[in-house]
Amino acid sequence: MVRRTQLGGGGESVGRDNRSGPAASTRRLRHRGVAPTGPDADAGLRVDELTVRFGGLTALDQVSLEVAPHEVVGLIGPNGAGKTTLFNAITGFVRPTHGTITWQGRPLRRHRAHHLGRLGIARTLQGVGLWPGLTVLENVACGAQPSLHADLASALTGTWRSSHEEGRVNEEAATLLAELGVAEWANRLPGALPYGVQKRVALARALISRPRLLLLDEPASGLSSADMEELSGRIRRLRQEMSVLLVEHHMDLVMATCDRIVVLNFGEVVATGTPAEVQASPEVTVAYLGEPVDVAVTGSPAGPPVGGAVPAATEGAGGSGRARGQTGSDDAAG
Ligand SMILES: Nc1ncnc2c1ncn2[C@@H]1O[C@H](COP(=O)(O)OP(=O)(O)O)[C@@H](O)[C@H]1O
Ligand SMILES: [Mg+2]
Repeated sequence: MVRRTQLGGGGESVGRDNRSGPAASTRRLRHRGVAPTGPDADAGLRVDELTVRFGGLTALDQVSLEVAPHEVVGLIGPNGAGKTTLFNAITGFVRPTHGTITWQGRPLRRHRAHHLGRLGIARTLQGVGLWPGLTVLENVACGAQPSLHADLASALTGTWRSSHEEGRVNEEAATLLAELGVAEWANRLPGALPYGVQKRVALARALISRPRLLLLDEPASGLSSADMEELSGRIRRLRQEMSVLLVEHHMDLVMATCDRIVVLNFGEVVATGTPAEVQASPEVTVAYLGEPVDVAVTGSPAGPPVGGAVPAATEGAGGSGRARGQTGSDDAAG
């Protein structure tokens, strides 16, 4: 049984070089012409004792964590630990069985995917999840739909207001594609493009709504090491504008990018701390490799490694963890 561990000085929710206090963050948003969306735009994300059950399977078990404004928090754990389920709960795709999610001081209860733009929350999906029949530009523009001002009538009748909005969104999509270095693919269908390009397009689609909370689900899977390095720098820059919750198996990226890390195993938070603290945590080793087994007693040559276990921080995906009661694939939550 793993213990829940608060590593280091209490896992304070302020980034390591976060020079922007609450007032500064509000000033910056106003300066950019972005109105604070909640009752308290200076409060971040707070998850309290969140439990999600799928029938007999407990995917999340009393999970609590925080992401402060302008903080990058890594969420790691073996396959099936419940990471994507947490994203699905935050974004309203699954209903928690118990517990609360609070964003900018406001509880998120019956929100749905189409509310996310207004709430200032965006996510990328595990995998890519682009629309195969739309061009790259159209895919990115789709991410802005919740913030369009054009009403349904003007959109349907094609009046000036909706076409004006469409032009503005397309321009913004093109700008983002250029910033992400994939402008040359704007008019292509995404299916035939290199995977690294598709991942950047998916990121652009999330960014076009100018979120204040960005949830990234395995953004580095399938990327080259050069692309991964570029991604790490980009996420560090994004935190000037938003909070980021990053699910990722590439530990080099997680360690280099995150201010703080939360470790899930079997749907429970087993450790939180700075990258260095988490890297040194025995709970993390247990989460990825299982409890050490005394070979002399069991005599089993197939048991997990004994002593000198490889630190989880250097291990990739494919750990041994599974949510309790799991019998099927770990990809159900996409
Ligand atoms: N919609 C769902 N219905 C049933 N089981 C699900 C659903 N979504 C996720 N699960 C299960 O919940 C557990 C956690 O899955 P997931 O959150 O995808 O893990 P991770 O992202 O950490 O790999 C797994 O056992 C998975 O099979
Ligand atoms: Mg997942």
